[in-house]
Amino acid sequence: MKSVNVRIDKIFAPASAVTAADIDALRPEIEQANELLHSGKGKGNDFLGWVNLPSSITEAQLSEIQAAAEVLRGEADIIIAIGIGGSYLGAKAVLEALSGSFDSLTAPKKGVNPRVVFAGQNISEDYTWELMEAVKNYDIATIVISKSGTTTEPAIAFRIIRDQIEKRYGKEGAARRIVAVTDESKGALRKLADTEGYKTFVIPDNVGGRYSVLTPVGLLPLAVAGVDIRALVAGAAEMEKLTADAPFGENPAMLYAAARTALYRAGKKVEILASYEPKLQNIGEWWKQLYGESEGKEGKGIFPASVTLTADLHSMGQYIQEGERTLFETVIRIAEPAHTFKIEADKENLDGLNFLAGKHIGEVNKMAILGTMLAHVDGGVPNIAVELPKIDAHTIGALLYMFEKACGISGYALGVNPFDQPGVEAYKKNMFALLGKPGYEKEGEALRARL
Ligand code: PA5
Repeated sequence: MKSVNVRIDKIFAPASAVTAADIDALRPEIEQANELLHSGKGKGNDFLGWVNLPSSITEAQLSEIQAAAEVLRGEADIIIAIGIGGSYLGAKAVLEALSGSFDSLTAPKKGVNPRVVFAGQNISEDYTWELMEAVKNYDIATIVISKSGTTTEPAIAFRIIRDQIEKRYGKEGAARRIVAVTDESKGALRKLADTEGYKTFVIPDNVGGRYSVLTPVGLLPLAVAGVDIRALVAGAAEMEKLTADAPFGENPAMLYAAARTALYRAGKKVEILASYEPKLQNIGEWWKQLYGESEGKEGKGIFPASVTLTADLHSMGQYIQEGERTLFETVIRIAEPAHTFKIEADKENLDGLNFLAGKHIGEVNKMAILGTMLAHVDGGVPNIAVELPKIDAHTIGALLYMFEKACGISGYALGVNPFDQPGVEAYKKNMFALLGKPGYEKEGEALRARL
């Protein structure tokens, strides 16, 4: 089985109003959009560094990341990765996907089992206090990640964590325990890192935040957590080649982009990314940022939502089955679980489950996946299947790249620049004005009058 296979045959149900002929008709447009990503002639073409990124990562770069990771693993029980948006979600998603669901029950220990936790992705006072409490009896280090080097949330977290590290280990010790991932020359973080002599990694200029998981932004925290970053990059590189070369019908990124574009044009405005593996929940968060920030502009774009099933069948299932018919579903399906667990026969059978005796839980999950798919399709929710043979670093790398490529293609088909995010500035301006940042006095006054 390929690393990632996309099936779109279940979007052709009558209620979806999309036919195989619609997909055929879209083919030239989708192929052209894919071509634009390679020729660099489309919108936002100064941010296309991610297109050939996986295949251009060198062994020397990977070794440098791995070496820095080893230093942090040797110094600290807990490594705090600071970042937000594209400087956070990729590492969090991959780490969760490739970790044991209950790893947090094992005590963190430097050199053996150091743990990566996240900060700077919110401005919650309680989160900050609880984090600092949680790490106070452990040795800590930090990776601070910000492309601009000026984002408020991670900057606040870094100020607090740096202060803590300097108090505990002194300036010299801090320099061994702090690694910055930022722009090559611009921004406050670059200046600070150079002044303090921190080890740094560069986020390439031509790779935007939400496409940066395969740069040191994602790779360094993942290497620290013990993820096989070489396999991750190799999986992505394989998908880079496939999505560049394969014809439309065998090209997962083009098929996925075509299906969602056709569905959007047929009135399906909300896409729900579903998976039946709880450890893929944060792949959904990463995917939501990728598609939401890339497509949601100029009054257009599919609204990306996500669910984890079967859990959410008991919360969102009712809406998906019978609510407003503007939805379609993209379901990540894993062919083989990593572990087996059999349901045994019970002498008394009081729970009536003996019809399942001898089956693995995965078989029950599989039937839930298929039964739910048919129920949703019958209820008017078209279904795209994204199939992976298993969850490992290689297939997750391929999945990430497939979604990135399809996002670029879809954005071009939508007619927007998928690589900017002008709308993100509005809240920042208001927040600065309300906080009394110098230069924002007038705006602050006007806003306060409205509250
Ligand atoms: O995708 C993006 O560009 C954003 O989500 C950024 O990653 C996010 O705002 C964080 O920015 P920075 O890395 O500059 O702190």
